[in-house]
Amino acid sequence: MTTSTASKRHALVTGAPGGIGRGICFALIEQAQRDGAAIHITAAASRPGERLDRLVDELRSAGATATGVAGDLTDPSSCADIVGQAIDRGGDLSALVCNAGASGPGRLADLPAAQWDRTFNLNVRAVWLLAQSARPSLARTGGSITAIASMSAHLPHPGYGAYAPAKAALVMLCRQLAQEWAHEGIRVNSVSPGMIRTPLTEAAYEDEETHRGRRALVPLGRIGTVADIGATVAFLASAGASYITGQSIMVDGGISDHMLSLIPGRPGKPAIAD
Ligand SMILES: NC(=O)c1ccc[n+]([C@@H]2O[C@H](COP(=O)([O-])OP(=O)(O)OC[C@H]3O[C@@H](n4cnc5c(N)ncnc54)[C@H](OP(=O)(O)O)[C@@H]3O)[C@@H](O)[C@H]2O)c1
Repeated sequence: MTTSTASKRHALVTGAPGGIGRGICFALIEQAQRDGAAIHITAAASRPGERLDRLVDELRSAGATATGVAGDLTDPSSCADIVGQAIDRGGDLSALVCNAGASGPGRLADLPAAQWDRTFNLNVRAVWLLAQSARPSLARTGGSITAIASMSAHLPHPGYGAYAPAKAALVMLCRQLAQEWAHEGIRVNSVSPGMIRTPLTEAAYEDEETHRGRRALVPLGRIGTVADIGATVAFLASAGASYITGQSIMVDGGISDHMLSLIPGRPGKPAIAD
């Protein structure tokens, strides 16, 4: 039985109450409903509370069975504990979605070592440890792992001293896991969002000039939504992706390939006015 064709699915989504995490949860439910499958979502948050409880209620209202789990993913024992609790309450996992992450901005010239470690522990080490704990379960279902990286994994930016290297490491971690676990039927991919409008990034879009300036850089002419990322993750966990592993999919409206078009004076661009 593969993830994608199973009539009963179970997805563990980390960072589930966040902007993109919510989008992923609802997209997985929609995908299961299109496929005529039942789905259990384990929504993982950094801490218990009303926000997580409300999400679990919303997921149930949308047609899933759902439970919430909480723990700090920078603590290795929490990673194992979260996977253990998920399997105890929802059965074997058909999908592990590692979405929790944070940027922790800072320049390399004076970045504290503790911040470097925290950024890597959350964005990279936690994904490895979650995957390690989930491996036997995913091997039983022929399941998949999808991690949320960033366009910063592929493009450096001053101020993202630890975040960009951590997300780049995450992309390679997924490729490495894909090679090591393919023989067990586990697929592993990453998704790299571009500019996505979430509560985390909302402040930038409240200023209309900044919003317009950002939108103008995107060849597809709009800022991404959490549904754009959710749809990609749901596809990677579906039957349609059963021959895809070790891939990194950029979901950015074309912005990261747009760089050369910004160079003044190149063919097809207006010449520089003196
Ligand atoms: N928004 C963008 O434009 C964008 C672009 C590229 C990549 N991304 C990536 O997309 C993912 C989601 O981002 P988002 O925009 O949706 O941000 P968000 O709303 O801040 O969500 C981040 C989630 O990560 C969880 N988290 C943070 N630290 C944690 C910890 N120590 N232990 C457990 N969970 C922790 C948070 O849990 P709580 O809710 O419990 O606090 C939150 O749910 C991240 O990996 C981010 O790097 C986002």
